Amino acid sequence: MKIEIKNIALEKVTTDVLVVGIVESDNNSEFTDKLSVLDKVSGGFFADLKKQNLLPQKAGAIRTFCNVPKIAAKSVAVIAYKADKKGLETAAKKLSAYLAEYQIKQASIALPTDNLTDLSTTDTAKILVQNLLSADYVCDEYKSQTEEKIDIDVVFLTDNEKTIAIGVEQGTAIAEGMNTLKALGNAPGNVCTPKYLAHYTKKLAKQYDSLSVEILKEKEIKALKMGSLLSVSKGSIEKPRLIKLEHKGGEGNPIILVGKGVTFDSGGISLKPGAGMDEMKYDMCGAGSVIGTMKTIAMLNLPINVIGIVPSVENMPSDRASKPGDIVTSMSGKTIEILNTDAEGRLILCDAITYAKQFKPKALIDIATLTGAVIIGLGTHATGLMSNNDELAEQLLRAGQQSGDRAWQLPVWEEYTEQLKSPFADLQNIGGREAGTITAGCFLGEFAKDVAWAHLDIAGTAWQTRKEGATGRPVPLLVEYIMSQVK
Ligand code: BES
Ligand code: MN
Ligand code: ZN
Repeated sequence: MKIEIKNIALEKVTTDVLVVGIVESDNNSEFTDKLSVLDKVSGGFFADLKKQNLLPQKAGAIRTFCNVPKIAAKSVAVIAYKADKKGLETAAKKLSAYLAEYQIKQASIALPTDNLTDLSTTDTAKILVQNLLSADYVCDEYKSQTEEKIDIDVVFLTDNEKTIAIGVEQGTAIAEGMNTLKALGNAPGNVCTPKYLAHYTKKLAKQYDSLSVEILKEKEIKALKMGSLLSVSKGSIEKPRLIKLEHKGGEGNPIILVGKGVTFDSGGISLKPGAGMDEMKYDMCGAGSVIGTMKTIAMLNLPINVIGIVPSVENMPSDRASKPGDIVTSMSGKTIEILNTDAEGRLILCDAITYAKQFKPKALIDIATLTGAVIIGLGTHATGLMSNNDELAEQLLRAGQQSGDRAWQLPVWEEYTEQLKSPFADLQNIGGREAGTITAGCFLGEFAKDVAWAHLDIAGTAWQTRKEGATGRPVPLLVEYIMSQVK
């Protein structure tokens, strides 16, 4: 999909489909300023249709009209939408489905500049572009025969080119970050290994001047004494990697994003049941969201410092794998009794958090498909958020609201951390059946005590059904948060 911005009178645009909106409001519908323009030029064509109840009314509905008098476009598609953020998102998704279904090659969208009370023109363009481009993603890399993809030219028609251009740039960069995460998440475990993630990140860093990358291999990870991370990777033939990707854009201490990069989670010796185990290829979506977000902020060249850290391993059973009851020493010096080898995410993240602290983060956020329990608690609608810092938690919750990629906060209380006490080591890696998402977060919190830390459990939000695959979440939330921190 190619997106352009043009300033041409609507009636003069030569295109296959000219898209205009009509706003749904209780039992009535209102013309956008752009639809009013077309109505006037065409001599009341659309007012007439409205009288006959032939215009779409329910949000998301689209109707196409050909041979509209005095209009150069081959057809005019009228789309009904609700005039708020969610409504625009839905409209963009319906529109891209419509463009795909009718194999449209050329479309011009007449952007409304009124009727949207709480949205700026920039945000309108941003939401539309982000959703159009992210809906345009298909995963066909692993098929021998692919359907031919129609390359659509989308033109945004506006008399406010500068403002729209900012929104288009932001929407494009966010969609690019989301699609990067989707591609990495959907990649099968035999392709997307720790080595692959490292290689992918290296290639990405080469594309942007602001980015630099450092890859630590097993020998260096051993030298850092990351005994907890290594206890997970040692069961697999795939060697671990620790990826550090830095975006230098400004002054001041960095925001650090730490993403769980388990490229396949079999559970290890505490083997998972067979049904649905294929989904554990998504267990690196925390890593993918860090890499995707770094790509977005590099594309936008944001004037801020951000470091992405990705501990990456494969979790497998073997004669070399960790066993329940094993005790390991983390980089922090804290000892951990591994009671369940399937609670591996926290074992790699705790060492990555300890490692990250040396870069003096002003905020440290870990992102992980950490617990099945978060899906029971919050479903697939909200990411679980935990934090030791109220201001950071507020900022992330707000970024979730703003971007439509929402999170919901859970408590970090001593009572929960108590559940992690072991008679044999400093900590044990599981806290029992109760409050599984919270005890997992509290485990990580024990390693992030002296920094402003937040944890995002994305097990419910990063992917949905097998058919749809990775969703691209929480890239929108993370980008919104980082943008809010730009001075
Ligand atoms: N990667 C899983 C979490 C997960 C489960 C994500 C289902 C998405 C869907 C994680 O490593 C895990 O296995 N967690 C265990 C923890 C338990 C052993 C305390 C879980 O949630 O069952
Ligand atoms: Mn697991
Ligand atoms: Zn896992």
